[in-house]
Amino acid sequence: MADKIKWGVIGSGGIAMRRTIPEGIISAENAELVAVYDVNSETNSNVARLYNTTAADSLTSLLNCDIDAVYIASPVNKHLDQVIASAVNKKHILCEKPLGISVNEAEKMISVCNKEGVTLGTGFMMRFHTQHQAALKMIEEGRLGEPVYARAQLSCWYPPIEGAWRQDPETGGGGSLIDMGSHCIDLLEMFFGKILSVNCFITNRIHSYKSEDSAVASLFFENSAMGTVDTFFCIPDNSSRNMLELYGSRGSIIARGTIGQGPSGEMQAYLENDLSEYDARQTRITGVGIQINPQPVNTYLAEINEFSCAILEKREPENNAGAGLRSQKILAACYESAITRKVIDIPD
Ligand SMILES: NC(=O)c1ccc[n+]([C@@H]2O[C@H](COP(=O)([O-])OP(=O)(O)OC[C@H]3O[C@@H](n4cnc5c(N)ncnc54)[C@H](O)[C@@H]3O)[C@@H](O)[C@H]2O)c1
Repeated sequence: MADKIKWGVIGSGGIAMRRTIPEGIISAENAELVAVYDVNSETNSNVARLYNTTAADSLTSLLNCDIDAVYIASPVNKHLDQVIASAVNKKHILCEKPLGISVNEAEKMISVCNKEGVTLGTGFMMRFHTQHQAALKMIEEGRLGEPVYARAQLSCWYPPIEGAWRQDPETGGGGSLIDMGSHCIDLLEMFFGKILSVNCFITNRIHSYKSEDSAVASLFFENSAMGTVDTFFCIPDNSSRNMLELYGSRGSIIARGTIGQGPSGEMQAYLENDLSEYDARQTRITGVGIQINPQPVNTYLAEINEFSCAILEKREPENNAGAGLRSQKILAACYESAITRKVIDIPD
C-alpha cells in the first residue's frame, strides 16, 4: 500500500457531500477520493462532477474500483448490508454513527470485519475537536480533580419531512437520542470513562413523527460520577447552545457550541488551586475562567486523517468500532429504560 488511502464513498449525497468529502477525504494528505456511489444516481453524478471523481452506478461497481477503504454515509438501516459487502470485498470501513439500528447489527459488523481482516471505524469525529482534546488532557492531568458530573447537549429544529429516515425508528433506529445523543454519549465516555447504568425519558413534545423529538438520559459512570445527555429535535437551532459541562472536585470546564459540526466554540475552565474550605456563604467569584482556545482543526479532516493513518500503520483507529458498539449499547439501554421506566445496566 502506498502512502495514501484510496477512498470510495457510499451514500454520497448527504453529510458526505456537505462535509466529509470536501473537508476530509479531499483535504487529507494521506487520502485520495477514487469513486462515489449513491442510490440516487442524479445526486451521485452531481457529487462526482463537483469533486472530479468517478460515479459508480452500483455498490458492486464501487467495490470493484481500486479502493482501500469506504466511507459509509447512507441511512442507518442500510449500514449493515453495506458494511458486510465492503468487508467481504476486503475494504476497510469508516461507517457513520450510529453503526447500526441495534446492538445486534453493530456486533455483526464487528464480527464480519474481524473475520475478513479489515478495520471498522465509527464516524465520531467530535472526539477530534481540539477543545475536546484539550479538555480531555486537563481531566487526565487531574486538573478538575475527581470527575463529578458531566452534561452534553445537542439539539436542533427538525420538522416533519415526508419520507425522512430519521423520523421513523425502522430506518433511523430512533430519533434525537440515537441521531445526536450517540455523539454526546461517546464524548462523555471519552471524558469520564465507562457508563454503568442509565435512566432515560423520551417523548414527542412538538413533532408527531414516529421517532422521538425529545430525550433526556441520566448516566451513572463506573467511577461514580453522574451525567446527563439532552437531545431535542424541537428546539430552534439558534436556541440550543449545545452545552458541554464537565465538573470535578477541583473545577469545571464549560463549553458552548463545541459539540457540533464546526471546528470551534467557546470553552472555559474554572479551576481551584487548593481545595477551598467550606464556605457557608457560597461566594462565587465571577470572570476568573481560563479560556481554552487551542488552534482549531477541521474535525472531518482529523477523522479521515486518523483513520487513513491507522490503516497505513496497521493499528486500530481512535474512533474504532469498539466506541461505536459502546455507544450503541448505551443507546439501546436508554430506549429500554424509556419504555420500562427502569434504570438499565449496560452489558459489558
Ligand atoms: N458525523 C456527522 O457529523 C454526521 C452528520 C450528519 C449525518 N451523519 C450520519 O451520516 C449518515 C447519513 O446521514 P445524512 O444526514 O447524510 O443522510 P441524508 O439522507 O442526507 O443522505 C444520505 C444519502 O444516502 C443515500 N442513500 C440512501 N439509501 C442508499 C443506499 N441504499 N445506498 C447508497 N446510498 C443511499 C441518499 O440518496 C442520500 O444521498 C447517518 O448515519 C447519519 O447519522 C453524521
